[in-house]
Amino acid sequence: MLDINGSVAVITGGGGGIGFAIARHWVENGGKVVIADISEELLKKAEADLKAMGGEVVTVACNVTQEEDCARLADAAIEAFGQINLVAPFAGIIKDGMMVSPDRETGKVTRKMSLGDFKLVVDINLTGVFLTVRECAERMINHNCRGLICLVSSTGSMGTAGQINYSSTKAAMSVMPRVITAEFFRRGLADKIRCAAVAPGYVGTDMVKNMNQKALDRILADVPIGRLVEPEEVATLVGDIYKNEALAGDVYFIHGGLRLGSKG
Ligand SMILES: NC(=O)c1ccc[n+]([C@@H]2O[C@H](COP(=O)([O-])OP(=O)(O)OC[C@H]3O[C@@H](n4cnc5c(N)ncnc54)[C@H](O)[C@@H]3O)[C@@H](O)[C@H]2O)c1
Repeated sequence: MLDINGSVAVITGGGGGIGFAIARHWVENGGKVVIADISEELLKKAEADLKAMGGEVVTVACNVTQEEDCARLADAAIEAFGQINLVAPFAGIIKDGMMVSPDRETGKVTRKMSLGDFKLVVDINLTGVFLTVRECAERMINHNCRGLICLVSSTGSMGTAGQINYSSTKAAMSVMPRVITAEFFRRGLADKIRCAAVAPGYVGTDMVKNMNQKALDRILADVPIGRLVEPEEVATLVGDIYKNEALAGDVYFIHGGLRLGSKG
């Protein structure tokens, strides 16, 4: 079992939502955090909150789509604390829309998901994760660190209508732990650096609270526990996977019993 106390977490999207909840969980349990976010305002607020809890915190303003930003983030963690034990690349966005939308009266397509909306989600949710994880993994190996790379997939990885961009990136997140674990196994590293993913359903963060209220009500009607998952519940799951070194190479769902129907 690993102990969060004294360990170092690098968290992207750490300024808000689930990323911030993980940072708080780490600090509450004696861990140190390096939080990165594209929003300097969110970072400042998160830093103040975590320091008020007595946390050791470093902030890095960073756009995860930029290779040099991700390298700077990983370097900042090593410079400040000498190690990286948890990598949580939780920066992510949604840009929902049907791939093609036929007009209800004419039956002809009147709207399409734009290439820009498709690419932006792929850049942040997929390429951004690859860059964050690659840069942090390099430093973890070179500095002989022990720990976990914990990606974030989603129930959207099963295929949600209106999210061809998002669902595709989240399906990618569910295969990456297998690839990374297999690569580390080949190199004799898998007992020291594990990779896994959590796959939340609908979590009560800005990403979901900003959704169309009617759509959200429809979704909640299908959630057996009858409510959104709390960010703290996802953060606790990440902490539990970190501590339990038998958990590796897989995806751990946390969705209150939600099942998608054939209309996604
Ligand atoms: N909220 C949910 O229901 C839910 C469900 C499943 C998976 N997830 C995943 O969890 C992760 C966090 O989601 P959340 O709900 O906390 O969202 P959120 O919007 O509350 O937080 C995301 C954070 O990422 C930051 N960010 C966005 N683009 C960035 C970039 N290019 N570089 C750096 N930072 C950037 C934002 O500023 C924000 O602080 C996402 O990957 C999301 O897909 C969320």
